[in-house]
Amino acid sequence: MAECDPNAMKKAAAERAVDEYVKDGMTVGLGTGSTAYFAIMRVSELVKKGYKLRCVATSQQTEDIARENGVEIVNINDIEYIDVTIDGADEVDPKLNLIKGLGGALLREKIVAAATQTEVIVVDESKIVEKLGVRTALPVEVCRFGHVRTAYGLKLQGCEPVLRMKGGEPFVTDGGNYIYDCKFPEIERPFFLQSALDTIPGVVECGLFLNMAAVAVIAHRDGTVSEIRC
Ligand code: A5P
Repeated sequence: MAECDPNAMKKAAAERAVDEYVKDGMTVGLGTGSTAYFAIMRVSELVKKGYKLRCVATSQQTEDIARENGVEIVNINDIEYIDVTIDGADEVDPKLNLIKGLGGALLREKIVAAATQTEVIVVDESKIVEKLGVRTALPVEVCRFGHVRTAYGLKLQGCEPVLRMKGGEPFVTDGGNYIYDCKFPEIERPFFLQSALDTIPGVVECGLFLNMAAVAVIAHRDGTVSEIRC
C-alpha cells in the first residue's frame, strides 16, 4: 500500500472486514460512504464467487451501488435480524462509541445497526479520537417543519448548529429531513448528550452511535490493519 494514500487505507480496512466477518448464507448490512463503498464492492465479489448473501442497504446510494454490482437487496422489514453490518464512521473513541452521519445516512445507519448482531466499523487511523467531537461536528437529523426552532434547542446544548447545504439548497436526507451539523468543543458525556438531544421536539436522530459497534477495523498509514474489539 502506498504510504498515506487515503483510498488505499479505506480499501484495506473494508476488504479485511468483509473477508473476516462475512460468511456464506449471512444477512449483511451495507454501510454508506467512501469506506463502506469498498466493502460493497468486496461483497459483490463474494456474490460473484457464489456466496448466497441477503443484504440490507443503509441508504439509497448504497442500494443503487449494490444492485448495479449484482448484490441482492432485501427490505429490512422482511428480515428478523442482520448477522453483520460493515459501515464507516467519522470518529471512533477508545470504547468504540462513534460519530456518524457526515455522509447524511445516519438515520437508516442507526436503524440497521440496532438490528445487527455484529456491527463492524471500517476506518482509517485519522478517525480514531480520544474524545468524540474533537474532529468533526455532530450531525443531527431534524424534521423540516420548524427546523429553525429545533436548531435553537440544539444551540442550548452548547453547540453551533449549521444547516447542511447542497447546491445552494438545504441537503435533504433519504428520510426527507434536514441535517444540522453541530460543532461542540468536545463531547464530555456522550450518553447524557444523546438523551438531551432526544428530548428536543423535531430531532429525528443524532449521529452518536453509543454501545453499537462490536469491532473497529482500522487501516494505518504504514500499510498495517488492526482491530479494536469491545
Ligand atoms: C454516512 O452517513 C456516514 O455515517 C459515513 O459512514 C461516515 O461519514 C464515514 O464516511 P467515509 O467513509 O466516506 O469517511
